[in-house]
Amino acid sequence: MRKDAWKPIDEHVLRTLEQLFEDEPDRLCRLTNEVAGLYFDWSKTHLNGALIESFAALGEARGFAAARDALFAGEIVNITENRSADHVAERGSGEAGAVQLAASRRLRMRALIDAVEAGAFGDVTGILHIGIGGSALGPALLVDALGRTTAKARVRFLSNIDPQAFEQAAQALDPATTLIVVVSKTFTTAESLSNLDAALDWLRGGGIADPYGRVIAVTAAPEAAIAAGIDESRILQFSEAVGGRYSLWSSVSVSAALALGWESFEEMLEGAAEMDRHFRFTEPAKNVPLIAAFADLLYTQRLGCQTRAVFPYDERLGLLVPYLQQLEMESNGKSVTAAGEPVGRPTSPVVWGGVGTDAQHAVFQLLHQGTAVVPVEFVAVAQDDGPLVDHHRQLLLNAFAQGAALMSGRTSDDPHRTYAGNRPSATILLDRLDARTLGVLLAFYEHRTFACAVLLGINPFDQFGVELGKEIASELSDGADAQSLDPSTRSLIERAAI
Ligand code: F6P
Repeated sequence: MRKDAWKPIDEHVLRTLEQLFEDEPDRLCRLTNEVAGLYFDWSKTHLNGALIESFAALGEARGFAAARDALFAGEIVNITENRSADHVAERGSGEAGAVQLAASRRLRMRALIDAVEAGAFGDVTGILHIGIGGSALGPALLVDALGRTTAKARVRFLSNIDPQAFEQAAQALDPATTLIVVVSKTFTTAESLSNLDAALDWLRGGGIADPYGRVIAVTAAPEAAIAAGIDESRILQFSEAVGGRYSLWSSVSVSAALALGWESFEEMLEGAAEMDRHFRFTEPAKNVPLIAAFADLLYTQRLGCQTRAVFPYDERLGLLVPYLQQLEMESNGKSVTAAGEPVGRPTSPVVWGGVGTDAQHAVFQLLHQGTAVVPVEFVAVAQDDGPLVDHHRQLLLNAFAQGAALMSGRTSDDPHRTYAGNRPSATILLDRLDARTLGVLLAFYEHRTFACAVLLGINPFDQFGVELGKEIASELSDGADAQSLDPSTRSLIERAAI
Protein backbone atom coordinates (compact mmCIF):
# COMPACT_ATOMS: atom_id res chain seq x y z
CA MET A 1 0.00 0.00 0.00
CA ARG A 2 2.63 2.40 1.20
CA LYS A 3 4.80 1.63 -1.81
CA ASP A 4 1.93 2.43 -4.19
CA ALA A 5 1.25 5.69 -2.47
CA TRP A 6 4.85 6.72 -2.99
CA LYS A 7 5.05 5.53 -6.62
CA PRO A 8 3.77 8.64 -8.38
CA ILE A 9 6.05 10.80 -6.27
CA ASP A 10 9.10 8.64 -7.03
CA GLU A 11 8.27 8.60 -10.72
CA HIS A 12 7.90 12.32 -10.82
CA VAL A 13 11.29 12.86 -9.18
CA LEU A 14 12.97 10.34 -11.49
CA ARG A 15 11.40 11.90 -14.55
CA THR A 16 12.63 15.30 -13.48
CA LEU A 17 16.16 13.98 -13.02
CA GLU A 18 16.15 12.18 -16.35
CA GLN A 19 14.92 15.21 -18.19
CA LEU A 20 17.58 17.33 -16.66
CA PHE A 21 20.42 14.92 -17.28
CA GLU A 22 19.67 14.73 -20.98
CA ASP A 23 22.33 13.51 -23.35
CA GLU A 24 24.01 16.49 -24.96
CA PRO A 25 26.99 15.70 -27.17
CA ASP A 26 28.58 19.09 -26.58
CA ARG A 27 27.93 18.99 -22.86
CA LEU A 28 31.59 18.85 -21.84
CA CYS A 29 32.75 21.82 -23.85
CA ARG A 30 29.81 23.95 -22.79
CA LEU A 31 29.97 23.07 -19.12
CA THR A 32 33.62 23.58 -18.41
CA ASN A 33 35.40 26.87 -17.90
CA GLU A 34 38.94 27.95 -17.27
CA VAL A 35 39.74 31.01 -15.17
CA ALA A 36 43.17 32.09 -13.94
CA GLY A 37 44.67 28.63 -13.52
CA LEU A 38 41.49 26.95 -12.32
CA TYR A 39 39.42 24.53 -14.39
CA PHE A 40 35.73 24.25 -13.48
CA ASP A 41 33.80 21.22 -14.66
CA TRP A 42 30.04 21.18 -14.24
CA SER A 43 29.44 18.57 -16.88
CA LYS A 44 28.56 15.97 -14.25
CA THR A 45 25.81 18.16 -12.85
CA HIS A 46 22.26 18.45 -14.15
CA LEU A 47 22.93 21.91 -15.50
CA ASN A 48 22.56 22.29 -19.22
CA GLY A 49 22.55 25.15 -21.68
CA ALA A 50 18.81 25.75 -21.43
CA LEU A 51 18.88 25.78 -17.64
CA ILE A 52 21.78 28.19 -17.55
CA GLU A 53 19.78 30.47 -19.81
CA SER A 54 16.73 30.21 -17.56
CA PHE A 55 18.79 30.93 -14.47
CA ALA A 56 20.43 33.88 -16.23
CA ALA A 57 16.92 35.17 -16.95
CA LEU A 58 16.06 34.72 -13.28
CA GLY A 59 19.19 36.71 -12.47
CA GLU A 60 18.02 39.47 -14.77
CA ALA A 61 14.61 39.50 -13.17
CA ARG A 62 16.27 39.71 -9.76
CA GLY A 63 18.46 42.64 -10.87
CA PHE A 64 21.65 40.63 -10.52
CA ALA A 65 23.87 42.91 -12.63
CA ALA A 66 22.79 45.97 -10.68
CA ALA A 67 23.35 44.20 -7.35
CA ARG A 68 26.85 43.18 -8.45
CA ASP A 69 27.60 46.73 -9.61
CA ALA A 70 26.37 48.02 -6.25
CA LEU A 71 28.74 45.65 -4.42
CA PHE A 72 31.76 46.84 -6.38
CA ALA A 73 30.67 50.49 -6.24
CA GLY A 74 30.74 50.40 -2.44
CA GLU A 75 27.01 51.04 -2.14
CA ILE A 76 25.00 49.97 0.89
CA VAL A 77 24.40 46.32 0.03
CA ASN A 78 24.22 45.18 3.65
CA ILE A 79 20.96 46.98 4.20
CA THR A 80 20.09 45.53 7.59
CA GLU A 81 23.31 46.99 8.99
CA ASN A 82 23.33 50.01 6.70
CA ARG A 83 26.81 49.23 5.34
CA SER A 84 28.65 48.55 2.15
CA ALA A 85 30.54 45.24 1.85
CA ASP A 86 34.11 46.30 1.24
CA HIS A 87 36.01 43.00 1.15
CA VAL A 88 36.62 43.43 -2.59
CA ALA A 89 38.35 46.76 -1.89
CA GLU A 90 40.90 44.87 0.25
CA ARG A 91 42.26 43.36 -2.95
CA GLY A 92 42.07 46.57 -4.93
CA SER A 93 38.73 46.01 -6.66
CA GLY A 94 35.87 48.42 -6.56
CA GLU A 95 35.19 51.84 -5.15
CA ALA A 96 38.19 54.18 -5.17
CA GLY A 97 37.86 55.57 -1.65
CA ALA A 98 37.56 52.13 -0.03
CA VAL A 99 40.42 50.81 -2.17
CA GLN A 100 42.62 53.70 -1.09
CA LEU A 101 41.79 53.25 2.58
CA ALA A 102 42.49 49.51 2.37
CA ALA A 103 45.81 50.21 0.62
CA SER A 104 46.94 52.66 3.29
CA ARG A 105 46.02 50.19 6.04
CA ARG A 106 47.90 47.49 4.17
CA LEU A 107 50.97 49.74 4.24
CA ARG A 108 50.70 49.90 8.05
CA MET A 109 50.37 46.14 8.19
CA ARG A 110 53.46 45.81 6.03
CA ALA A 111 55.39 48.24 8.24
CA LEU A 112 54.49 46.28 11.36
CA ILE A 113 55.54 43.04 9.69
CA ASP A 114 58.83 44.66 8.70
CA ALA A 115 59.30 45.75 12.31
CA VAL A 116 58.67 42.21 13.58
CA GLU A 117 61.16 40.87 11.03
CA ALA A 118 63.68 43.53 12.02
CA GLY A 119 63.54 42.34 15.63
CA ALA A 120 61.30 45.00 17.23
CA PHE A 121 59.61 42.18 19.18
CA GLY A 122 62.85 40.35 19.90
CA ASP A 123 63.45 36.92 18.53
CA VAL A 124 60.09 35.62 17.25
CA THR A 125 59.91 31.91 16.52
CA GLY A 126 56.21 31.40 17.14
CA ILE A 127 52.89 33.19 16.73
CA LEU A 128 49.83 32.56 18.83
CA HIS A 129 46.91 33.73 16.71
CA ILE A 130 43.83 34.29 18.87
CA GLY A 131 40.51 34.74 17.10
CA ILE A 132 37.38 32.81 16.20
CA GLY A 133 35.10 32.36 13.18
CA GLY A 134 36.10 34.80 10.46
CA SER A 135 38.91 36.02 12.66
CA ALA A 136 40.63 32.64 12.45
CA LEU A 137 39.30 30.33 9.73
CA GLY A 138 40.72 32.26 6.76
CA PRO A 139 44.25 32.81 8.10
CA ALA A 140 44.36 29.22 9.40
CA LEU A 141 43.45 27.95 5.94
CA LEU A 142 46.17 30.12 4.36
CA VAL A 143 48.88 28.92 6.72
CA ASP A 144 47.86 25.28 6.41
CA ALA A 145 47.50 25.41 2.63
CA LEU A 146 50.63 27.36 1.81
CA GLY A 147 53.02 27.12 4.75
CA ARG A 148 53.23 23.48 5.71
CA THR A 149 56.89 23.20 4.90
CA THR A 150 57.92 26.79 4.34
CA ALA A 151 56.38 28.86 7.17
CA LYS A 152 58.87 31.29 8.67
CA ALA A 153 57.38 30.90 12.14
CA ARG A 154 55.33 28.29 13.94
CA VAL A 155 51.74 29.55 14.00
CA ARG A 156 49.15 28.17 16.40
CA PHE A 157 45.50 29.14 16.15
CA LEU A 158 43.53 29.44 19.34
CA SER A 159 39.79 29.94 18.93
CA ASN A 160 37.72 27.84 21.29
CA ILE A 161 37.19 28.94 24.90
CA ASP A 162 37.82 25.33 25.91
CA PRO A 163 40.83 25.26 28.28
CA GLN A 164 42.06 22.18 26.40
CA ALA A 165 42.46 24.34 23.30
CA PHE A 166 44.56 26.84 25.17
CA GLU A 167 46.78 24.13 26.65
CA GLN A 168 47.35 22.55 23.29
CA ALA A 169 48.21 25.81 21.55
CA ALA A 170 50.52 27.04 24.31
CA GLN A 171 52.30 23.71 24.63
CA ALA A 172 53.66 24.01 21.12
CA LEU A 173 55.12 27.49 21.73
CA ASP A 174 57.80 29.14 23.84
CA PRO A 175 56.55 32.23 25.73
CA ALA A 176 59.98 33.85 25.45
CA THR A 177 59.80 33.99 21.65
CA THR A 178 56.07 34.04 20.91
CA LEU A 179 54.19 36.95 19.40
CA ILE A 180 50.49 37.16 20.26
CA VAL A 181 48.20 38.25 17.45
CA VAL A 182 44.66 38.80 18.68
CA VAL A 183 42.07 39.28 15.98
CA SER A 184 38.53 40.36 16.72
CA LYS A 185 36.48 42.63 14.51
CA THR A 186 34.29 43.78 17.40
CA PHE A 187 36.83 43.21 20.16
CA THR A 188 33.94 42.02 22.31
CA THR A 189 34.03 38.31 21.53
CA ALA A 190 34.15 36.42 24.81
CA GLU A 191 36.30 33.54 23.56
CA SER A 192 38.98 35.79 22.11
CA LEU A 193 39.13 38.19 25.06
CA SER A 194 39.33 35.32 27.57
CA ASN A 195 42.02 33.63 25.53
CA LEU A 196 43.94 36.90 25.31
CA ASP A 197 43.88 37.17 29.12
CA ALA A 198 45.10 33.59 29.43
CA ALA A 199 47.86 34.24 26.90
CA LEU A 200 49.03 37.36 28.75
CA ASP A 201 49.21 35.32 31.96
CA TRP A 202 51.11 32.64 30.11
CA LEU A 203 53.66 35.22 28.90
CA ARG A 204 53.99 36.63 32.44
CA GLY A 205 54.47 33.11 33.75
CA GLY A 206 57.18 32.68 31.13
CA GLY A 207 59.10 35.66 32.51
CA ILE A 208 57.99 38.34 30.05
CA ALA A 209 57.96 41.61 31.99
CA ASP A 210 55.77 43.53 29.53
CA PRO A 211 53.39 40.99 28.01
CA TYR A 212 51.27 43.66 26.31
CA GLY A 213 54.38 44.69 24.41
CA ARG A 214 54.24 41.34 22.60
CA VAL A 215 50.66 41.70 21.42
CA ILE A 216 49.43 42.84 18.03
CA ALA A 217 45.69 43.48 17.83
CA VAL A 218 43.65 43.46 14.62
CA THR A 219 40.19 44.94 14.85
CA ALA A 220 37.57 47.25 13.42
CA ALA A 221 37.10 48.70 16.93
CA PRO A 222 40.51 50.12 17.86
CA GLU A 223 39.10 52.03 20.85
CA ALA A 224 38.04 48.71 22.41
CA ALA A 225 41.52 47.25 21.86
CA ILE A 226 43.09 50.32 23.46
CA ALA A 227 40.71 49.98 26.40
CA ALA A 228 41.88 46.37 26.72
CA GLY A 229 45.45 47.60 27.17
CA ILE A 230 46.93 47.31 23.68
CA ASP A 231 49.11 50.20 22.55
CA GLU A 232 47.81 52.05 19.50
CA SER A 233 51.09 51.50 17.66
CA ARG A 234 50.40 47.77 17.63
CA ILE A 235 46.79 47.93 16.52
CA LEU A 236 45.92 47.22 12.90
CA GLN A 237 42.52 48.53 11.99
CA PHE A 238 40.30 47.15 9.29
CA SER A 239 36.98 48.43 8.05
CA GLU A 240 33.65 47.88 9.75
CA ALA A 241 32.33 47.22 6.25
CA VAL A 242 34.51 44.10 5.87
CA GLY A 243 32.53 41.15 7.22
CA GLY A 244 34.42 38.70 9.45
CA ARG A 245 33.99 35.76 7.07
CA TYR A 246 35.13 37.95 4.15
CA SER A 247 38.10 39.44 5.99
CA LEU A 248 41.11 37.26 5.22
CA TRP A 249 42.21 39.78 2.58
CA SER A 250 42.82 42.39 5.30
CA SER A 251 45.20 42.68 8.25
CA VAL A 252 43.17 39.83 9.78
CA SER A 253 45.76 37.71 7.96
CA VAL A 254 48.78 39.38 9.55
CA SER A 255 49.97 36.15 11.16
CA ALA A 256 49.61 34.33 7.85
CA ALA A 257 51.53 37.11 6.07
CA LEU A 258 54.25 36.87 8.72
CA ALA A 259 54.51 33.12 8.29
CA LEU A 260 54.22 32.98 4.51
CA GLY A 261 55.97 36.20 3.55
CA TRP A 262 54.59 39.45 2.20
CA GLU A 263 54.98 38.43 -1.42
CA SER A 264 52.69 35.46 -0.95
CA PHE A 265 50.08 37.60 0.75
CA GLU A 266 50.10 40.07 -2.14
CA GLU A 267 49.95 37.28 -4.71
CA MET A 268 46.86 35.96 -2.98
CA LEU A 269 45.24 39.39 -3.26
CA GLU A 270 46.16 39.57 -6.94
CA GLY A 271 44.58 36.16 -7.55
CA ALA A 272 41.38 37.31 -5.85
CA ALA A 273 41.37 40.52 -7.91
CA GLU A 274 41.58 38.38 -11.04
CA MET A 275 38.47 36.50 -9.97
CA ASP A 276 36.81 39.85 -9.18
CA ARG A 277 37.38 40.96 -12.77
CA HIS A 278 36.05 37.69 -14.11
CA PHE A 279 32.93 37.93 -11.95
CA ARG A 280 32.30 41.55 -12.89
CA PHE A 281 32.84 41.45 -16.59
CA THR A 282 32.02 37.95 -17.85
CA GLU A 283 28.66 37.10 -19.37
CA PRO A 284 26.44 34.81 -17.25
CA ALA A 285 26.89 31.69 -19.41
CA LYS A 286 30.66 31.74 -18.75
CA ASN A 287 30.74 33.35 -15.33
CA VAL A 288 31.97 30.68 -12.92
CA PRO A 289 30.65 32.02 -9.59
CA LEU A 290 27.31 32.58 -11.26
CA ILE A 291 27.18 29.12 -12.84
CA ALA A 292 28.04 27.58 -9.47
CA ALA A 293 25.21 29.58 -7.91
CA PHE A 294 22.85 28.30 -10.63
CA ALA A 295 23.82 24.72 -9.76
CA ASP A 296 23.32 25.43 -6.06
CA LEU A 297 19.84 26.77 -6.70
CA LEU A 298 18.98 23.94 -9.04
CA TYR A 299 19.75 21.40 -6.35
CA THR A 300 18.26 23.20 -3.37
CA GLN A 301 15.16 24.58 -5.08
CA ARG A 302 14.26 22.04 -7.70
CA LEU A 303 15.65 18.76 -6.47
CA GLY A 304 15.25 19.22 -2.73
CA CYS A 305 18.89 18.68 -1.79
CA GLN A 306 19.40 19.94 1.72
CA THR A 307 23.17 19.52 1.82
CA ARG A 308 26.20 20.03 -0.40
CA ALA A 309 29.46 18.21 0.21
CA VAL A 310 32.92 19.56 -0.57
CA PHE A 311 35.82 17.14 -0.80
CA PRO A 312 39.27 18.60 -1.34
CA TYR A 313 41.50 15.86 -2.71
CA ASP A 314 44.51 17.61 -1.24
CA GLU A 315 45.52 17.58 2.41
CA ARG A 316 46.59 21.20 2.19
CA LEU A 317 43.00 22.22 1.50
CA GLY A 318 41.53 20.33 4.45
CA LEU A 319 40.55 23.57 6.21
CA LEU A 320 38.61 24.69 3.15
CA VAL A 321 35.57 22.84 4.48
CA PRO A 322 35.20 24.71 7.82
CA TYR A 323 36.08 27.95 6.03
CA LEU A 324 33.26 27.39 3.52
CA GLN A 325 30.88 26.30 6.23
CA GLN A 326 31.14 29.72 7.81
CA LEU A 327 31.23 31.60 4.51
CA GLU A 328 28.16 29.96 3.04
CA MET A 329 26.06 29.06 6.05
CA GLU A 330 26.61 32.27 8.00
CA SER A 331 25.95 34.28 4.85
CA ASN A 332 22.97 32.50 3.37
CA GLY A 333 21.50 30.51 6.25
CA LYS A 334 18.54 32.87 6.38
CA SER A 335 14.75 32.52 6.32
CA VAL A 336 13.76 36.05 5.42
CA THR A 337 14.49 38.24 2.42
CA ALA A 338 16.55 41.41 2.66
CA ALA A 339 13.22 43.22 3.07
CA GLY A 340 12.26 41.00 6.00
CA GLU A 341 9.65 38.87 4.23
CA PRO A 342 9.67 35.05 4.53
CA VAL A 343 11.85 33.65 1.73
CA GLY A 344 9.38 30.85 1.11
CA ARG A 345 11.97 28.52 -0.40
CA PRO A 346 15.15 26.77 0.79
CA THR A 347 18.20 28.99 1.14
CA SER A 348 21.69 27.73 2.03
CA PRO A 349 22.21 24.00 1.98
CA VAL A 350 24.09 22.49 4.91
CA VAL A 351 27.71 22.48 3.76
CA TRP A 352 29.80 19.56 4.88
CA GLY A 353 32.69 17.50 3.59
CA GLY A 354 36.05 15.99 4.27
CA VAL A 355 39.39 15.25 2.73
CA GLY A 356 39.72 12.62 0.00
CA THR A 357 40.57 9.78 0.07
CA ASP A 358 39.82 9.52 3.81
CA ALA A 359 36.24 10.61 3.21
CA GLN A 360 35.89 8.03 0.46
CA HIS A 361 36.49 5.28 2.99
CA ALA A 362 34.06 6.70 5.49
CA VAL A 363 31.05 8.54 4.08
CA PHE A 364 30.92 7.88 0.35
CA GLN A 365 28.67 4.84 0.82
CA LEU A 366 25.77 7.23 1.39
CA LEU A 367 26.74 9.39 -1.57
CA HIS A 368 26.60 6.39 -3.92
CA GLN A 369 23.69 4.41 -2.52
CA GLY A 370 21.96 6.44 0.18
CA THR A 371 18.49 7.89 -0.14
CA ALA A 372 19.67 11.50 0.02
CA VAL A 373 21.01 13.03 -3.17
CA VAL A 374 24.01 15.14 -2.23
CA PRO A 375 25.60 17.43 -4.81
CA VAL A 376 29.31 16.89 -4.42
CA GLU A 377 32.21 19.21 -5.19
CA PHE A 378 35.67 17.79 -5.73
CA VAL A 379 38.57 20.22 -5.39
CA ALA A 380 41.89 18.91 -6.64
CA VAL A 381 45.33 20.17 -7.65
CA ALA A 382 46.86 18.91 -10.90
CA GLN A 383 50.50 19.56 -10.16
CA ASP A 384 52.35 18.26 -7.15
CA ASP A 385 56.05 18.87 -6.71
CA GLY A 386 56.60 16.22 -4.06
CA PRO A 387 58.66 13.08 -4.57
CA LEU A 388 55.76 10.61 -4.33
CA VAL A 389 54.59 11.14 -7.89
CA ASP A 390 52.51 8.01 -8.08
CA HIS A 391 50.72 8.80 -4.81
CA HIS A 392 49.57 12.05 -6.31
CA ARG A 393 48.47 10.35 -9.51
CA GLN A 394 46.44 7.85 -7.48
CA LEU A 395 44.91 10.67 -5.47
CA LEU A 396 43.66 12.45 -8.58
CA LEU A 397 42.48 9.26 -10.24
CA ASN A 398 40.45 8.52 -7.13
CA ALA A 399 38.79 11.94 -7.23
CA PHE A 400 37.91 11.60 -10.90
CA ALA A 401 36.76 7.98 -10.51
CA GLN A 402 34.36 8.96 -7.73
CA GLY A 403 32.77 11.58 -9.96
CA ALA A 404 32.45 9.04 -12.78
CA ALA A 405 30.90 6.44 -10.48
CA LEU A 406 28.42 8.91 -9.01
CA MET A 407 27.33 9.98 -12.47
CA SER A 408 27.26 6.70 -14.37
CA GLY A 409 26.42 4.20 -11.65
CA ARG A 410 26.28 0.50 -12.48
CA THR A 411 23.37 -1.86 -12.88
CA SER A 412 23.31 -5.32 -11.34
CA ASP A 413 20.80 -8.10 -10.67
CA ASP A 414 21.74 -7.70 -7.04
CA PRO A 415 20.08 -4.61 -5.56
CA HIS A 416 22.85 -4.36 -2.95
CA ARG A 417 25.43 -4.03 -5.68
CA THR A 418 23.46 -1.59 -7.80
CA TYR A 419 24.60 2.00 -8.12
CA ALA A 420 21.76 4.17 -9.35
CA GLY A 421 24.14 6.79 -10.73
CA ASN A 422 22.78 10.10 -11.94
CA ARG A 423 24.27 11.71 -8.82
CA PRO A 424 25.71 15.14 -9.41
CA SER A 425 29.24 16.33 -8.84
CA ALA A 426 31.30 19.32 -9.90
CA THR A 427 35.08 19.36 -10.06
CA ILE A 428 37.41 22.29 -9.56
CA LEU A 429 40.91 21.48 -10.69
CA LEU A 430 43.69 23.93 -9.80
CA ASP A 431 46.76 23.81 -12.07
CA ARG A 432 48.87 24.15 -8.92
CA LEU A 433 48.30 25.31 -5.37
CA ASP A 434 49.99 28.61 -4.63
CA ALA A 435 49.03 31.93 -3.11
CA ARG A 436 47.62 33.23 -6.38
CA THR A 437 45.42 30.23 -7.21
CA LEU A 438 44.21 30.06 -3.61
CA GLY A 439 43.18 33.72 -3.89
CA VAL A 440 41.28 32.93 -7.09
CA LEU A 441 39.55 29.96 -5.46
CA LEU A 442 38.47 31.77 -2.30
CA ALA A 443 37.20 34.82 -4.19
CA PHE A 444 35.24 32.40 -6.41
CA TYR A 445 33.50 31.01 -3.32
CA GLU A 446 32.75 34.51 -2.01
CA HIS A 447 31.14 35.58 -5.26
CA ARG A 448 29.20 32.35 -5.59
CA THR A 449 27.78 32.97 -2.10
CA PHE A 450 26.88 36.54 -3.06
CA ALA A 451 25.30 35.40 -6.34
CA CYS A 452 23.15 32.82 -4.51
CA ALA A 453 22.02 35.51 -2.08
CA VAL A 454 21.02 37.89 -4.87
CA LEU A 455 19.09 35.16 -6.68
CA LEU A 456 17.33 34.31 -3.43
CA GLY A 457 16.72 37.94 -2.50
CA ILE A 458 18.50 37.68 0.86
CA ASN A 459 21.24 39.74 2.54
CA PRO A 460 24.41 37.61 2.83
CA PHE A 461 26.30 40.16 4.92
CA ASP A 462 24.56 40.09 8.29
CA GLN A 463 24.45 37.25 10.84
CA PHE A 464 21.88 38.05 13.50
CA GLY A 465 21.25 34.33 13.95
CA VAL A 466 24.43 33.94 15.99
CA GLU A 467 23.40 36.47 18.62
CA LEU A 468 20.69 34.86 20.75
CA GLY A 469 22.72 31.95 22.09
CA LYS A 470 25.67 34.25 22.78
CA GLU A 471 23.40 36.62 24.72
CA ILE A 472 21.98 33.85 26.89
CA ALA A 473 25.48 32.51 27.67
CA SER A 474 26.74 35.97 28.48
CA GLU A 475 23.78 36.77 30.77
CA LEU A 476 24.28 33.50 32.62
CA SER A 477 27.99 34.17 32.87
CA ASP A 478 27.17 37.57 34.37
CA GLY A 479 25.07 35.86 37.05
CA ALA A 480 21.56 35.86 35.52
CA ASP A 481 19.12 33.56 37.29
CA ALA A 482 18.90 30.22 35.50
CA GLN A 483 15.39 29.76 36.90
CA SER A 484 14.01 31.86 34.04
CA LEU A 485 15.23 29.25 31.56
CA ASP A 486 13.51 26.10 30.38
CA PRO A 487 13.70 23.01 32.63
CA SER A 488 16.07 21.11 30.31
CA THR A 489 18.67 23.88 30.29
CA ARG A 490 18.25 24.46 34.02
CA SER A 491 18.93 20.87 34.88
CA LEU A 492 21.96 20.72 32.55
CA ILE A 493 23.43 23.68 34.44
CA GLU A 494 22.68 21.97 37.75
CA ARG A 495 24.09 18.66 36.57
CA ALA A 496 27.36 20.28 35.40
CA ALA A 497 27.54 22.06 38.77
CA ILE A 498 28.62 25.37 37.20
O1 F6P B 1 29.41 34.78 16.30
C1 F6P B 1 29.75 34.83 14.96
C2 F6P B 1 30.77 35.92 14.69
O2 F6P B 1 30.22 37.17 14.92
C3 F6P B 1 31.31 35.80 13.27
O3 F6P B 1 30.52 36.45 12.34
C4 F6P B 1 32.67 36.37 13.43
O4 F6P B 1 33.52 36.01 12.36
C5 F6P B 1 33.09 35.78 14.75
O5 F6P B 1 31.90 35.77 15.52
C6 F6P B 1 34.17 36.51 15.48
O6 F6P B 1 33.81 37.83 15.73
P1 F6P B 1 34.91 38.91 16.07
O7 F6P B 1 35.86 39.01 14.94
O8 F6P B 1 34.16 40.18 16.32
O9 F6P B 1 35.63 38.45 17.32
